[in-house]
Amino acid sequence: MAKYDVDEGKLKQLEEYIDSIEQKEGALIGILYKAQEIFGYLPKDVQLFVARKLGIPAAKVFGVTTFYSYFTMEPRGKHVINVCMGTACFVKGADKVLEEIRKELGITEGNMSADGMFTVDSLRCVGACGLAPVVMVDGKVYGRVKVEDVKSILDEYRNEGGQGE
Ligand code: FES
Repeated sequence: MAKYDVDEGKLKQLEEYIDSIEQKEGALIGILYKAQEIFGYLPKDVQLFVARKLGIPAAKVFGVTTFYSYFTMEPRGKHVINVCMGTACFVKGADKVLEEIRKELGITEGNMSADGMFTVDSLRCVGACGLAPVVMVDGKVYGRVKVEDVKSILDEYRNEGGQGE
């Protein structure tokens, strides 16, 4: 297995999971969910590994991972921040809030903070327009977020200092 450029222990865990599935046909999405749970994201080598294990073309695996937005091919931060960029949120300054979050986290390129704590992304309308602009952190919703609120929201997660896990 050494030819895959990913954590071998995790790959083994994935292999055991795949081996434990009796009916492998139609199991691809479930396996990719599991793989993302194990690795935190789906590096190309993990997708190649899954394809080989299932005896299916790699293109089929790539097709699934690019189609479902749940799957990510980039490493994700411990916390995922999503800023709604739907119309209602946008007109209430969501872009400024997003800019402030990136600035506060020192992100200039890509979506992840250098310490791996946060990934910042944007979403289309999340159906809470009355609360615009909306920011979600790991699924928790913050409404009517102002640029001045950004720091205290981030601090909630930055200050958890090892208590959680
Ligand atoms: S536009 Fe942001 S919740 Fe609807």
